[in-house]
Amino acid sequence: MAKVDTKGLRPETLAVHFGYEPADGLGSVKPPLYLTTTYVYPSAQHAKDVHQAYFDNEGPLAGADQPDYIYSRLNHPNLDMVEKRLAALDGAEDAAAFCSGMAAHNAIALSLVRPGDTIVHGRPLYGGSDGLYTNLLAGFGVKPFSFSDGADEADIRRTVEAALAQGPIALMAVETPANPTAAIVDIALCARIAAEVGERTGRKPVVSVDNTLLGPFAQAPLQHGADLCMTSLTKYCAGHSDLLAGGVSGAAALVAPMKMLRTTLGNHLDPNTAWLLLRSFETAALRTERAYVNARTVAAFLRDHPKVKAVTYLGFLPEGSPARAVYDRQCRAAGSTFSFELVGGEAEAFRMLDALRLLRMAVSLGGTETLICHSATTTHYAVPLELRLASGITDGVMRLSVGIEHVDDLIEDLAQALDKA
Ligand SMILES: Cc1ncc(COP(=O)(O)O)c(C=O)c1O
Repeated sequence: MAKVDTKGLRPETLAVHFGYEPADGLGSVKPPLYLTTTYVYPSAQHAKDVHQAYFDNEGPLAGADQPDYIYSRLNHPNLDMVEKRLAALDGAEDAAAFCSGMAAHNAIALSLVRPGDTIVHGRPLYGGSDGLYTNLLAGFGVKPFSFSDGADEADIRRTVEAALAQGPIALMAVETPANPTAAIVDIALCARIAAEVGERTGRKPVVSVDNTLLGPFAQAPLQHGADLCMTSLTKYCAGHSDLLAGGVSGAAALVAPMKMLRTTLGNHLDPNTAWLLLRSFETAALRTERAYVNARTVAAFLRDHPKVKAVTYLGFLPEGSPARAVYDRQCRAAGSTFSFELVGGEAEAFRMLDALRLLRMAVSLGGTETLICHSATTTHYAVPLELRLASGITDGVMRLSVGIEHVDDLIEDLAQALDKA
């Protein structure tokens, strides 16, 4: 699928090199930062040609390898570099980058979904995506339908039939592993069902996978049949909890309308943030490898602790279970974000959280530092109680995003805080 020539290089190498050529930046080894809002036209005819190429993909400048720029809300060199690198990492033909993960989700929805359509999605979902599908889009006449076991073919097929009875399915919005419980959805199964729906009805739902919890080094949704791979780049890819960004990768025909939409909505990624993100990609594989090793040790400590009822760490999925089979096929690593449930409820969880000295109590994930939060009262505060409980987010559940600190320090802090729960 890749349009860009990645020369068979591996993702860790692409993350360092791809998307920028020193020859384009006066030989500078590192990419320059293009801090300008607007670009000079060398002639009036050139100005016309640039606009024709951008808006209609026609004329003498259409399809040029090196685009001419117009205005930074439309496109800019640092955005191009990020998008080329992201497309290469995801094994995609093209990618679009936005000012946040939610901006990317909105671009997917607004480019594909129309009043009268339906959406099928799994549960749980990140709270923001849940709000997009169940509140915002519902207000525009789009009906959401959800399944709760993404490894259960019957559950997904039942949900698809219920949706089809109400209108064409525009989107199958998969989040896997899902936030906060790391629940798994079978991407290849969703792609197969979407293809069948396409044959039956003449309209194939677009399968979009939110890859935020694992990221491009540990899961490649497009290789498993997804049409779009969405990532909150804010998390593991940026990795320092200091910028917001989102990306969507896939076929150019699906990505192009999102780029055009971005021009109207003004939710592009600005040059400064794009530059920082490009730099962060270079170390993302190293950072995540260390976080993954730490996460396994922390998860094992929690699993064996008498005050912990359950741990949703993917590496502990029981052998022989359907979810395990999907995990083995689909994921290259178990990630470093998972949940654990304390014996007791909110009171015990709050006592433990307030006793922590090193771990930071905050939402978000995928940063160098370990973060922890009480899901029911923070990230999933706005999710109705029955849906929250159906997704396994009880009052004793906390989400942990394990960082790259020394693991012994993390465990010592958790141990002393658990004593106070
Ligand atoms: C799985 C998932 N998708 C999307 C988002 C939204 O990303 P952003 O915060 O960059 O808008 C988040 C944020 O936490 C998330 O966890």
